[in-house]
Amino acid sequence: MKSNASAPGKVILFGEHFVVYGVKAILCTINKRVTVTATKIQGNMISIKSNIGNLNIKSNESITEIKSPLKPFYFLANKMIEKFNENTGIEIIVKSEIPLGVGLGSSSACCVAGAAAISRLFYNTTKKEILELAIEAEKTIFQNTSGADCTVCTYGGIMEYDKKNGFSKINSEPNFYLIIANSKIEHSTESVVENVKQFKEKNEEKFSRLCIDESELINNVLILLKNNDLVGLGKNMLKNQQYLETIGISNEKLRLMIELAQKSSYGAKITGAGAGGCIIALADESNLEIMINQFKKKNYECFSTKIDFVGLDTF
Ligand code: MEV
Repeated sequence: MKSNASAPGKVILFGEHFVVYGVKAILCTINKRVTVTATKIQGNMISIKSNIGNLNIKSNESITEIKSPLKPFYFLANKMIEKFNENTGIEIIVKSEIPLGVGLGSSSACCVAGAAAISRLFYNTTKKEILELAIEAEKTIFQNTSGADCTVCTYGGIMEYDKKNGFSKINSEPNFYLIIANSKIEHSTESVVENVKQFKEKNEEKFSRLCIDESELINNVLILLKNNDLVGLGKNMLKNQQYLETIGISNEKLRLMIELAQKSSYGAKITGAGAGGCIIALADESNLEIMINQFKKKNYECFSTKIDFVGLDTF
């Protein structure tokens, strides 16, 4: 018996960091996917094969003993075997198009596609049940996840999120390209978030002004998204970038990349935690090629994406 599922990666379009302090953020999925194939096999082994390595452990091991980044898959497989009290092993094959560890949601996409492919070997899970399983699995590697990434990877499209009201889907289908360029500087989200907290504590007044400005910006962006106003959206990306510069999460390399992007895109900004990771630049057919060539000429790893409106797909 075999079950397949795929889920998209994601970017934060607007509102990273300020979202930690209650401001709304806007996220969207990208058309780069993780595909997971799960198969019941004889014996009691859970066997995971992926492009970042393999893991072969028999079922019923304690999850805390497992140190591999593939742990969420083991957790999901083991949970299903236990729940249905079945005498089976599971083989899980993971194929990913999403660059790892640079804020593009690769681990959430793995958890969502993994939860779907593995659970559907046992019963016909709904999207809601799959999302719950995915968040549980993600918590085995990121205890404090808000669940934002798994939610957007499950439902696809654009979503707004704030701490008080949670998530809601934005029913706009703007037609633009995002060019994602990787700084190749590794970052730890936890430590960047901590640095922003220190900035806030030293500059309370300035920080609360920035939160008000970011909220206004997000409200404008919601209208611009409805109208597919790329010029307006680009301007707001640059404005948002200035706020991110002010709170200290940019650096020389990211600034150079954003300057380069500004030459031919509608606008560009850091996406996610910053201090490394990726930038996003906004484009359409008129400037897409030029932009990509500019980045490639300077040897940056970059690719273009569109918003994925599908989300989780099972087949
Ligand atoms: C990281 O992808 C996004 C941050 O806003 C942190 C968070 O929301 O938990 C920097």
